[in-house]
Amino acid sequence: MRIAFLTGAGMSAESGVPTFRDALTGLWARFDPERLATENAFRRDPALVWGWYRWRAALVAKAQPHAGHAGIARLQDRHDVRVVTQNVDDLHERAGSRGVAHLHGSLFASRCIGCGSRVDPDPIASGMEAVPAEGAREPPPRCTACGEAIRPGVVWFGEALPADAWDAALDAVRACELLVVVGTSGLVHPAAALPALARDAGRRVLEINPDATPLAALAHASWRMKAGEGIARLGQALARGEPIA
Ligand code: OAD
Repeated sequence: MRIAFLTGAGMSAESGVPTFRDALTGLWARFDPERLATENAFRRDPALVWGWYRWRAALVAKAQPHAGHAGIARLQDRHDVRVVTQNVDDLHERAGSRGVAHLHGSLFASRCIGCGSRVDPDPIASGMEAVPAEGAREPPPRCTACGEAIRPGVVWFGEALPADAWDAALDAVRACELLVVVGTSGLVHPAAALPALARDAGRRVLEINPDATPLAALAHASWRMKAGEGIARLGQALARGEPIA
């Protein structure tokens, strides 16, 4: 079967990486995106923003993919699987998924805010034994080519998505028979438009999320369970040839 996955922060939650909008524990419940996740914020206070993304990169570096990530990667052996993620971590890749489209960029793809040069090795992942504490400042390194600041490789509010990742997402949705949407609140566009595109194109849509979301209105089925459990159930249903959604 041709299966596309669209994953969000809930996919990484069981690995210990915080989501954005869960009450109390979500990053946007504890931190102000206006101060941390826009280009203006970075230009205003680069050390605050760089320190915060270094802290997040360290959380991700310590985290391990869980059984759900591994379950998606295993499906590649028997099915045509494409993975599109809003997550800026590398847990799908570390579990063995190939060709993951990162709609919101990557924590591990820092680049110069001036000339766009990438830095090798990525400075966000270096010196992980001395990462800033939560909320602490650390000045970003400077580009050796032009002297401007190095910025995290993530998509900030108000920025366009990387064109190659968006094209890959559209291809995945068009090519699939089943779109499985895992662990996203379905609130951030344009990623949030993908399930409706799939449904309008006649694809089946399954949602896996323990909590109710607006996606339930258009999904053919919503499994109210965590990613790990839902993907295990999906793997079993596919192996038995049972209808999914
Ligand atoms: P959200 O934090 O908005 O939503 C996470 C979703 O995961 C919620 O619907 C939770 O119910 C669900 N969830 C929590 N634990 C789960 C689990 N164990 N298994 C499955 N689902 C679980 O995160 P996103 O939808 O990914 O953008 O947010 C989209 C974008 O908003 C992010 O990529 C980020 C943020 O601002 C940028 O940074 C550009």
